[in-house]
Amino acid sequence: MTRPRNDTFLRALLRQPTPYTPVWIMRQAGRYLPEYNQTRARAGSFLDLCRNPDLATEVTLQPLARFDLDAAIVFSDILTIPDAMGLGLYFAEGEGPRFERPLREEWEIRNLDRTDPDAHLRYVLDAVAQCRKALADSVPLIGFSGSPFTLACYMVEGRSGTDFVTLKKMLYGRPDLLHHILTVTAASVTAYLNAQIEHGAQAVMLFDTWGGSLSQSAYEEFSLSYMSQIVAGLTRQHAGERVPVIVFTKGGGLWLEGIAASGCDAVGLDWTIDLAAARRRIGNKVALQGNLDPAIMMTSPEVIEKQAAAVLASFGSGAGHVFNLGHGVSQFTPPEHVKALVDAVHQLSRPYHVT
Ligand code: CP3
Repeated sequence: MTRPRNDTFLRALLRQPTPYTPVWIMRQAGRYLPEYNQTRARAGSFLDLCRNPDLATEVTLQPLARFDLDAAIVFSDILTIPDAMGLGLYFAEGEGPRFERPLREEWEIRNLDRTDPDAHLRYVLDAVAQCRKALADSVPLIGFSGSPFTLACYMVEGRSGTDFVTLKKMLYGRPDLLHHILTVTAASVTAYLNAQIEHGAQAVMLFDTWGGSLSQSAYEEFSLSYMSQIVAGLTRQHAGERVPVIVFTKGGGLWLEGIAASGCDAVGLDWTIDLAAARRRIGNKVALQGNLDPAIMMTSPEVIEKQAAAVLASFGSGAGHVFNLGHGVSQFTPPEHVKALVDAVHQLSRPYHVT
């Protein structure tokens, strides 16, 4: 299979030289783009949009039509897995995701079954295949999943914004139950990511949005160990090409060495950690992805350029950096600010790649 014409993103993940620093943006297809809101309205709802491969492909491509991004990420959500497990995902307008049947009782947890992506997540695999085809090897396509721990947060709490009290009571009081949820979920995530790779994803990313809320020992036991297990089970070579894996724990700056030892090719970083420090600690093992504070995207093109320059300078010269925000782009970001960022990264990074 041919490599994309612009393969800077894949090269940077493998710490190979590139002429400039590649950039993509978490949540690059989303509500800050008026065309996204139009397509979502046509679909009916966010979930209808995720479940319609034609429209999911359309919104995946929207940010690439506007900005000179170096990668596409398939439009979907991390909560497709618990939904496929029968928990009943829905979105209450303006309140984020909810589950009709969160996992609370022991019998419900013992009955949890791993999901077969070919049977239950066909719509995501179809979207991956269609996106890959529509991209026509222009830029690489990223597949993704939530980490087992982050998915368990939503599965047990049933909603976001709860401080995870129910989950943490289970973690400390009935760790056997949480381990059961995580074991079933990790097997599902492995199968799901491998199916995405099979259908055309050229790199995959694990989003561990809530791992940073744990103590160090709980992080290792309940989040990192399951991510390492997943990484070990992934197809790393497909159609003659290496499939790089990115692990992103928001708030994981304290535990970089452990994350880098998970077997991943790249570590995603939020904005709380300095790239130079991260590079000193793990830069000889893995590539780094990040880490501009998303709040900066609300300021002005001048400030964005200055702050992007500071992120590039903190990584410094050489290969192994993929530029991104430290978390998803906010829905209130003016699209022209994203253009300013992407163009600034391309221009300002060239001197760091002269050999
Ligand atoms: O990055 C991309 O462009 C790909 C699409 C993508 C979405 N969600 C689309 C989405 C990805 C990679 C995700 C990941 C995701 N989803 C995470 C991990 C990353 C993170 O942000 O921490 C999490 C925790 C979720 C769960 C989720 N989905 C929440 C908490 C919400 C509501 C929050 C919000 O911004 O309203 C969603 C909804 C969601 N997922 C939207 C999008 C574009 C907004 C829904 C809409 O259009 O109404």
